[in-house]
Amino acid sequence: MKRILTYGTYDLLHFGHIRLLQRAKALGDYLIVALSTDEFNELKGKKAYHNYETRKKMLEAIRYVDLVIPEDNWNQKIQDVNDYKVDIVVMGSDWANNEKFEELKDYCKVVYLDRTEGISTTKIKQELKLQEPDNLTNQIPNV
Ligand code: CTP
Repeated sequence: MKRILTYGTYDLLHFGHIRLLQRAKALGDYLIVALSTDEFNELKGKKAYHNYETRKKMLEAIRYVDLVIPEDNWNQKIQDVNDYKVDIVVMGSDWANNEKFEELKDYCKVVYLDRTEGISTTKIKQELKLQEPDNLTNQIPNV
């Protein structure tokens, strides 16, 4: 059983995310997504449209995803790799050669996959003109 781990915010789920998850899963048998919490996003200066619980539920509904765990700090990766017996950490190529992932090579394999061109959460937000602070939080109650 080969276990794969990837990190991200996965806000406003889009085709680039789906392709990343599909290709990550194809590298093994069990795919874990470490999903940035709202508090961690705040630390990174990011604000997601959907809150953590909603983003988690959406990821859990994707057939390639087996488990979603919280990512709440920069320094948990080695522990995650050990705790979840991870064989490969997979990230999009925007993270290629980043020290945060390169250092994991002592513990598991690290693979960078090409990003899907022409799409990103930031681009969607810009193109839907959702940059206004008042519109940046989703108002649907938790279900
Ligand atoms: N990703 C990808 N292709 C895209 C967009 C994202 O392969 N077009 C990958 C990223 O490289 C990452 C994962 O999807 O491994 C989650 O990315 P995330 O940062 O949550 O999504 P983005 O759309 O890049 O968000 P943002 O614009 O806020 O950076």
